[in-house]
Amino acid sequence: MATTLTHFPLEGPVLVVDDPEEDAAQAVRAQGRDVVRWSRMDTPGGEVGSPWPSPGPFGAALVRLPPSRNALDFLLHAVGSVVAPGGRIFVYGSKDEGIASTGRRMEPWVETVAVRANARRCRVLEGQLKGTDSRPAHGAELSAWRTVSTVDLGWGPVDWVSYPGTFAKGGVDPGTTLLLTNLPLWPRGGRVLDFAAGTGVLAAVMAHRDPTAQVVMVEPDALSREAAGENVPGGSFAPPYSWWEAGPFHAIVSNPPYHRGKEESLEVLASLIARAPGALVSGGELRIVVQRRLPVEPLLREGFPAPEVVVDEGPYRVWRALRL
Ligand SMILES: C[S@@+](CC[C@H](N)C(=O)[O-])C[C@H]1O[C@@H](n2cnc3c(N)ncnc32)[C@H](O)[C@@H]1O
Repeated sequence: MATTLTHFPLEGPVLVVDDPEEDAAQAVRAQGRDVVRWSRMDTPGGEVGSPWPSPGPFGAALVRLPPSRNALDFLLHAVGSVVAPGGRIFVYGSKDEGIASTGRRMEPWVETVAVRANARRCRVLEGQLKGTDSRPAHGAELSAWRTVSTVDLGWGPVDWVSYPGTFAKGGVDPGTTLLLTNLPLWPRGGRVLDFAAGTGVLAAVMAHRDPTAQVVMVEPDALSREAAGENVPGGSFAPPYSWWEAGPFHAIVSNPPYHRGKEESLEVLASLIARAPGALVSGGELRIVVQRRLPVEPLLREGFPAPEVVVDEGPYRVWRALRL
């Protein structure tokens, strides 16, 4: 895929976006080009995501197709603001992920879109970046992507900050609503964790319920953290791949992810459940909301003596598991 870059006389380093395994970065380096990597997500390998790329200028950018249109528009703006005029933007992904309809979304930034590689299921699209005057003027800095909506978390309307690609699009997910109306108890001033915090809905409700609580959030997406930092001003963050070291907690709550890209995966949920007993005080509680169809009970039973369903409503179950 990255061999397509050799055909062009590029100036400057190449920005490689969302490449956790470093496959694309290595292919570009193998051609003697300098690489700067950027991802909004922290990686298990210890890289910390950032909400906006470093300023460049870059000769080209390689963008892995993100899961939503909104997130793609954001990435194209971010990349378009740091690739030099005339530089190349490559977007790659599979047909299942929607690469076939991606060219249209690149058009505001690039002169023309060409298909540079077309394997059975994957495609690489390439465009030459327009001059600064002919690109969309709006959106060349992170602040332009900050959205403020209004949510009701149980005590009247609240301003809520979100960014493209953050969970629930500036609103409150129905699973989260079920959990926030069935939160666990903890001793006043206790230490509570919102695992997979997104923009911080559960953390905000816990902070409102007990303003003396020490509210900690775990969230690997730097843009979600940016929003959650504003939505939960007294909260703090623990690193997503060693969060248990920030314990012990009196309560851990979560509406956890069960997808990796577009594929369903229980990996993060299983890891949360496996780590939770060691990260809770004695008598502390893990409370999670998950879709009823998911096989959570065997996972919970491995670490907790008597997990139970406290709410069973629509497609969701709220589970509680006490550490003895
Ligand atoms: C279902 S959303 C819930 C967000 C928020 N708690 C809410 O209810 O609105 C799941 C969140 O998990 C985050 N996430 C993805 N991988 C993760 C990981 N390895 N550890 C913790 N959170 C993760 C996603 O970025 C996303 O914000």
